[in-house]
Amino acid sequence: MDSGLENVVAAETALSDVKGDIGELIIKGWYVEKLATSLAFEDVAHLLWATAFEDMPSTQDLGAQIGAARVEAFKRLPAATTNSDIIQYLRRGWANERDDETLGTAITLAASGLVYTAAAVRFASGQAPITPDPRLSSSADFLRMITGTAPQAHTARALDAYLVTVCDHGLNASTFAARVVSSTRAGLTSAVLGGLSALKGPLHGGAPGPVLDMLDDIGDEANAEAWIDQALAKGERLMGFGHRVYRARDPRADALKSAASRLPGTAGRIAFSEHIEREVLGKLRSKYPNRALETNVEFYTAILLEALGIPREAFTATFACGRVLGWIAHAREQISEGRIVRPKSVYRGPMPELMEA
Ligand code: ACO
Repeated sequence: MDSGLENVVAAETALSDVKGDIGELIIKGWYVEKLATSLAFEDVAHLLWATAFEDMPSTQDLGAQIGAARVEAFKRLPAATTNSDIIQYLRRGWANERDDETLGTAITLAASGLVYTAAAVRFASGQAPITPDPRLSSSADFLRMITGTAPQAHTARALDAYLVTVCDHGLNASTFAARVVSSTRAGLTSAVLGGLSALKGPLHGGAPGPVLDMLDDIGDEANAEAWIDQALAKGERLMGFGHRVYRARDPRADALKSAASRLPGTAGRIAFSEHIEREVLGKLRSKYPNRALETNVEFYTAILLEALGIPREAFTATFACGRVLGWIAHAREQISEGRIVRPKSVYRGPMPELMEA
């Protein structure tokens, strides 16, 4: 039994390669750093899905179809509730989508994630949702649907850098969940809901909001050492650090730090974050000298999404809006394998003759 399936190979994939020992990530032939500075959300949808669907249109047509699908999704917005949990709202929205294995459903899921997340942000602050503009890029429209103003090109570009950086990452927990669901032939929507449900946990995609909580709680560089010592003494995990696969620095952390540093007004926040990062890494090295615990993607995700004006309650849903591209590509890859995922377990429970009558 391999706890956490750490050394189990459970899939062959042509989608991404996480080289944890040297801190490298390749997505469909692109180093993640290059992907982050070169491609937009729509480009990466095309890149990841090109071999998954026989009826894949050109990148430009795919972008137009995603824009049109945003408009359609807005007509199906779930009703606002007093529950302001953005993941719950996104899950309700996606749960109502048709559930099959087609490109049309893939486009609907990719487009509607952005619409439902933006609407949930508006509802959470007591504001009306904003109708999508299909002429804008997905990133620009997402920010416009949240803030009410079309963003400048460099701001939309920074969100693209985020969404494409997190689009896929080997057999992480949420992608594995999506692959298991799709192996039963339940449909892409079911696979995406499985992925989202795994992503929301604080040990996976739920970490970046708590990263900001930690930075706020520390407040000042002078408090850092005592704060970290206290948290570690209580056995808490420091959000944005550590990773199952990376034993070197997560390359996505630097891709996102660079994207944040290109935005105006972020220098002070980044300098503070770097200080906290150095302190945490030093403390983790002292506490776990035999286990390399480095900065992961979530630390600078928090800084970048905060700089983009996205509220921290929406960070995990925004992550899902990028990762959904990978979940769908993996689901299709799993379906092409043609076999249900069904590992074995070892029974350690009582034997019948030992049970009391
Ligand atoms: N803070 C404090 N201690 C930690 C941290 C951390 N961030 N990460 C690991 N440790 C400790 C573990 O508690 C464990 O200690 P123990 O032996 O005393 O129990 C030891 O280091 C070894 O842990 P790992 O085997 O490296 O952890 P694992 O692979 O099981 O978990 C995980 C990886 C979940 C990412 C973990 O590092 C963690 O909880 N990090 C904080 C949450 C976080 O940032 N999650 C986002 C990950 S990136 C992503 O999913 C998109």
